[in-house]
Amino acid sequence: MAATDAPGVRDLGLDDLAQAVTLSASVGWNQVEADWRLFLDLGHAVGVDDDEGRLAATAATLPSGPGLAWISMVIVREDRRRRGIATALLKRCAYEISASGRVPGLDATPAGREVYLRLGFQDSWTLARWRRVGVAPIAPAESSSALRVRPIEGRDRAAVLRLDAPAFGADRSPLLARLLERSSAFAAVAEDESGPRGFVLGRDGRATTHLGPLVAESEDVARALARHALGRITGSVTVDAADAAAGFTDWLAASGFGRERPFTRMYRGRSEPFGAPGLTFAVAGPELG
Ligand SMILES: CC(C)(COP(=O)(O)OP(=O)(O)OC[C@H]1O[C@@H](n2cnc3c(N)ncnc32)[C@H](O)[C@@H]1OP(=O)(O)O)[C@@H](O)C(=O)NCCC(=O)NCCS
Repeated sequence: MAATDAPGVRDLGLDDLAQAVTLSASVGWNQVEADWRLFLDLGHAVGVDDDEGRLAATAATLPSGPGLAWISMVIVREDRRRRGIATALLKRCAYEISASGRVPGLDATPAGREVYLRLGFQDSWTLARWRRVGVAPIAPAESSSALRVRPIEGRDRAAVLRLDAPAFGADRSPLLARLLERSSAFAAVAEDESGPRGFVLGRDGRATTHLGPLVAESEDVARALARHALGRITGSVTVDAADAAAGFTDWLAASGFGRERPFTRMYRGRSEPFGAPGLTFAVAGPELG
C-alpha cells in the first residue's frame, strides 16, 4: 500500500496530549492521558487539524514484537467525517506497519469496519464490550479447590509474559509492563500445583475501569480471576470479552454486566488469527489488542 496521505496528516507529540484526550472523550471513549502517553512512548500517533488548528482526527500504531502491530485510536470528529480522513490516516498507519515487516491488526467498531474492509482488512473473530454499572452481586465461580488466585506481584511478570504471548500471538512485554503498573489494586494470577494457569490485568479509565487482558487455560480459571478482580473494583467496570467464550459471557451477564457493543478483530490481508483466541477471555482493549 502506498503512503498516499491526505494533506495535513502530521505526527503527534507530547504537546498534543491534552487535545488528544479531549477528542477521544468527545466520542465517549475511556482513554486517559496515560493511554495517549503509552501510544507516544511505545508506538506512533498521527493526526489531522481543523482550519483553526484544533486536533480533529487521530490514529496510532503500536508494535507487538517483530510480526504484528496494532492500529488504534482511529477517531474523526463528527463535523469532519465522510471526507476520507480516516482512510488517509489508516493508509499512513498500514504503510508504516507493512514497511516494518509486520501485519496490521485492529479491533473495529461497526463504523470503522466499513472503512477497514475497503483497505484490505479481513474479519478474524468477534468480541463485545460488557459493562457493569455500580456494584452488583457477583455470580459464584465454581473454581476447583486446587486453584489459588492471588494478587499479582513483581515476581509474576515472567509468568504473565509466558502466558500472554501464545494467547495474543506476539510478545507485547512493554505494554504489559504498563498495565501491570496501572492495575496493581486488582490484577491477579491463578495457579495450581503445576504453576500459573492464567492472569488478569487492567487499567484506570476516564469513565470506567477496564479489565483485561484476561488470559486463562480454562473458563473455570477465567471466572475465578474475574471474580477476584471484580471484588476489588468499585463502580463501573468494562470487559471486552471474546464472543466465543460464551460460558464466560453468560457468567458476566449473571454478575450484573450488560452487553454494550460489538467489535470485530481484523488483520490486513489475512483472517487467520494470531495466537490462540481460545485462551483470551477478555482482550487488553480494542485500542491495545
Ligand atoms: C469510523 C470513522 C473513523 C470514519 O471516519 P471518516 O473519516 O468519516 O471515514 P472515511 O471518510 O475515510 O470513510 C471511507 C468510507 O468508509 C465507509 N464509511 C465510513 N464511515 C461509515 C459509516 N459510519 N457507515 C457506513 N460506512 C462508512 C464509506 O464507504 C466511506 O466512503 P464514502 O464516504 O465515500 O461513502 C468515524 O466515523 C469515527 O470517528 N467514528 C467514531 C469512532 C470510531 O468508531 N472509530 C473507529 C474505531 S475502530
